[in-house]
Amino acid sequence: MALFERGGPGRADEYISTSDVATRALSVTVVENDFVEEVYRKLAPNYDWFFGPTLHPGRLQAIQRMGIKPTDRILEVGVGTGINAVLYPRECSVTGIDFSAEMLLRGERRLARKGRTNVRLLEMDAAAMAFPDNSFDIVYAPYLISVVPDPVTVVTEMRRVCRPGGRVIILNHFRSPNGLLAWFERLISPLTLYAGFKADLDLPAFLAQADLHPVSIEKVNVPRLWSLVTCVKA
Ligand SMILES: C[S@@+](CC[C@H](N)C(=O)[O-])C[C@H]1O[C@@H](n2cnc3c(N)ncnc32)[C@H](O)[C@@H]1O
Repeated sequence: MALFERGGPGRADEYISTSDVATRALSVTVVENDFVEEVYRKLAPNYDWFFGPTLHPGRLQAIQRMGIKPTDRILEVGVGTGINAVLYPRECSVTGIDFSAEMLLRGERRLARKGRTNVRLLEMDAAAMAFPDNSFDIVYAPYLISVVPDPVTVVTEMRRVCRPGGRVIILNHFRSPNGLLAWFERLISPLTLYAGFKADLDLPAFLAQADLHPVSIEKVNVPRLWSLVTCVKA
């Protein structure tokens, strides 16, 4: 039985093909937490300049699509410097986790500056969360899943802490379906790791290996190279 509700015909299910998606590598790169932590320790002071405005349309679209209710309990995984944390309605309760103390420090400062008291930030590894099962209504990972060593383990954790009927939402860049672009993304992926992400994460293989059946996949940002993947926990 699928762990997520399936999308309508011609929508997200078309991303899951019948080839070798269940077994093939998600990226040409392999990365460890220590390496990622060190990259974000160095990036933290300038993160908002590099990744703030360029990735912001996708963040705004994701929050708009969530249709957040005042009673919603939201978990943001990989909250970083808290760029999204101040976008949620003030009435809902938000928890943001990240394993980088340097990124979180900037997040705390942003929350204080904006007078946000409905958001708590915690230092935690996305692959081993300290929350009980079914704790949140929305579990959202903006620009995280191509950063972590094991995206399938992280999304399994996201699903565990999401309540049945709640949503698991992933905003991320994935490898292009265009052959030439995909080749280029594979080529540069070992280098983009130093900027904090893998450029070639394979969406069909990720969906198949994580047993995800999104209800929608929307292209976001300009150019539209990022995807907003929404799943409902059955
Ligand atoms: C590209 S940033 C995204 C930040 C923010 N969500 C945004 O929209 O700008 C990725 C964040 O994920 C964090 N991260 C990477 N691996 C993680 C892990 N295993 N557990 C928790 N946080 C992690 C990094 O420290 C960094 O802050």
